[in-house]
Amino acid sequence: MKWNADLYDDKHSFVSQFGASVVELLDVKAGEHILDIGCGTGDLTHQIQQLGAEVSGSDYSPEMIAQARFKYPAINFEVADAANFTAEYPYDAVFSNAALHWVHNASGVIRSVHEALKPGGRFVAEMGGKGNIGQLRAAIKQVLQQNGYHQQAETQVWYFPSLGEYTTRLEQQGFRVTFASHFDRKTPLQDGDQGVAKWIRMFGAQYFIGIPDAVQPKLVQEITDLLEPYYNENGQWYADYKRLRFIAVKE
Ligand code: BEZ
Repeated sequence: MKWNADLYDDKHSFVSQFGASVVELLDVKAGEHILDIGCGTGDLTHQIQQLGAEVSGSDYSPEMIAQARFKYPAINFEVADAANFTAEYPYDAVFSNAALHWVHNASGVIRSVHEALKPGGRFVAEMGGKGNIGQLRAAIKQVLQQNGYHQQAETQVWYFPSLGEYTTRLEQQGFRVTFASHFDRKTPLQDGDQGVAKWIRMFGAQYFIGIPDAVQPKLVQEITDLLEPYYNENGQWYADYKRLRFIAVKE
């Protein structure tokens, strides 16, 4: 999938704004070596650096990494697969915000992170958890089915595990999970009744592969109409995000 890094920074900056509290959870100590996986355009990587860490960022998307390098030339950013990477040296911490739900190979992620950490090092992350954007996914599926796009309706774009599933995987790899939480966080969409369309354009394009461009706006309008009673609160639209957060320590 090709990312639009400008649209991401312009209309979806809430991703890194919410991520600031995940940086607090990381509890950076000056001089620590930290790797930010799925760093996007690097805003949180930069925040981690400002707290005194020696930080590197990686992302699967060359477009995101190009933008991150442009914005923060003093930070080392690399294109890498979160499910299959080898670190140059052992890190004190691996961090990730709002990225791991794009990676279906969770065991690859957890294995790679475990190998990248020093003994006692920590993996601190937030991702979409079970039920994340459940109403949005249900509306997309319903509209695609009603319009005869049955194959697209079955598209599995994301991996949203339950707390039990993900923490079990972490423990099986040799982590001790010292904190885990699965919570609701209504997330504001920008641009009122255009917010769902913009969100889908940024994040949900995979559902529309093979559907003619001319048909797509009608489908997106039908999805928006289905969501309006749940998402529109007096003109401010919110998506039904559910977050999974954890701290896992390499034993
Ligand atoms: C999330 O942060 O939960 C998310 C973002 C984009 C697509 C799907 C989920």
